[in-house]
Formats: sequence, structure tokens, C-alpha cells
Amino acid sequence: MMPSDSTASGVEHVDPGAASEIRGIPLTGMQLHLGSGPRAIPGWLNVDKSWVAAVSRISPILDVLARVGALSDQQRTTRWSQDVTRRDLTKPFPWQTGSARAIYSSHMLEHLDRVQARDFLKECFRVLATGGIIRLVLPNLGRAVERYQQARQRGDARAADDLIGFLYFVPPYEDMSRTRRIAMRLLHRPHAWMYDEASLSAILRQVGFVEVQARAFREGICPDLERIEHRLDECFEGSSFFVEGVHP
Ligand SMILES: C[S@@+](CC[C@H](N)C(=O)[O-])C[C@H]1O[C@@H](n2cnc3c(N)ncnc32)[C@H](O)[C@@H]1O
Repeated sequence: MMPSDSTASGVEHVDPGAASEIRGIPLTGMQLHLGSGPRAIPGWLNVDKSWVAAVSRISPILDVLARVGALSDQQRTTRWSQDVTRRDLTKPFPWQTGSARAIYSSHMLEHLDRVQARDFLKECFRVLATGGIIRLVLPNLGRAVERYQQARQRGDARAADDLIGFLYFVPPYEDMSRTRRIAMRLLHRPHAWMYDEASLSAILRQVGFVEVQARAFREGICPDLERIEHRLDECFEGSSFFVEGVHP
């Protein structure tokens, strides 16, 4: 067994290779990357429902949509990998019970409402094999509230707006053209709920996962973290948190 250590924050550090032996993550089975966004990670089944994925292969359509304000510049220039499979993950998963060894999902769950989120996690539980691992990365509500309180103490008048911006339940329409506002209302899905480590861990346990614990950036027992955990910018600033659970 490889040694573990602990940080001051109490997050346990475990060597990923050793952990997969210790905890018996199945050696075979699917690796599901759910709500992948445009970037497909080799070795994973990358799944996302975005309609932009469907049209992004046809450049003239993107240009027209960008011109009428339906897309941001970033959306216009982002090319979606051909290896992203389009699927709405609020629907029952098409994969067999116990067919996956790992599920990774970053910044997706907060776009689902409470019922959808629970159903999504139940489906994750169903498709994972015994010993399979789920790793979720989400915007960190706890850290955002801390930042809000610190900004208030400094007398920063933008504290509340910054917090609301981070929560992102409604896009900041005031900075948008009229057509973009309409397009956003029709096509865009902002956040539906927010979590901290404790609230997400509680749901994971309710759904049936065990060994649920907070992790640090690129640390944990999920395989392939060096490649799949790629949101360097936000994660380093503590804007995201990381939780893993194991299928018993
Ligand atoms: C904020 S992006 C995160 C993308 C990437 N995982 C990352 O961390 O950079 C959220 C992604 O979740 C996808 N998504 C949201 N709801 C979904 C659903 N019901 N089914 C599948 N994908 C969904 C969106 O299309 C979008 O690509």
C-alpha cells in the first residue's frame, strides 16, 4: 500500500495508481466523461447534449448565428471534437447496469434542477460497476460566499453583484444586444442549483455511494486525472471543488 497524507484543509491525498489497487476499481469497463464540453479525452466516452456541438462542424452557420448574437465569440470559434457523443443526460442512460469503471463530470451537475440532478446521479450509480468511481467537479458555493463576505468587509460595493454573477442563475443580460438576449433566453441554460462539498457529498451518499470524500485538484482515485482534469484557471483559484465516491 502506498502512503497517504493529509493537507491542512483536511483533504486526503492518495496516490492514484496505488489507490486503484487498494480500492479495487475494476480494470475494465467504460470511462464516461459526462457533460464533456467540446474537448474529448481519449480513452473516455465523451458525452454532451450541446446543440452547438451539432452545428459547430458547419462554419457558415456559426458565423450567421454569431452575427445575429445567438453565439458568443468563444462559442463561434470553439470547434467541438467529432468524438463527443450528443446525448441529453437528464434522460435514462443507454448504458448497461454495471458497465462503467469510472465517471467524470465537471461543471455540469449545477445546470440540472434538483430532481434531474438526483436522477442523473442515480443513473451514474446504476451504470457503475462494483468498485467503480464517480468524480464530480463543481463551482464552489462555499468559497463564493467567503469571497462575498470578505468583499463586504472591505466595503466593496460590487460584492453582491459578483456573488450573483458567480451563482449564474440568470445571465447578465444588461451587457447584451437585444438579439443576443433573446437567443440566450431561448437557447442557453444557466445554473439551476449550486452546491458545496457537504451538500453534494450528502446526495452522493443518499444515492448509495460510499467512501465519499472531498479531493484536491488532480488528486484522488479517479483514473487519468492528469488528462481529464483540465480546467486549470478556475481550479487553482479555489472556484471549483472536487468530490469522489465509490460504488460499493
Ligand atoms: C460549463 S460546461 C462544462 C464543460 C466541461 N465539462 C468543463 O468542465 O469545462 C457544461 C456542459 O454541460 C453540458 N450539459 C448541460 N446539461 C446537460 C445535459 N442535460 N446533458 C448533457 N450535457 C449537458 C453543456 O452542454 C456544457 O457543455
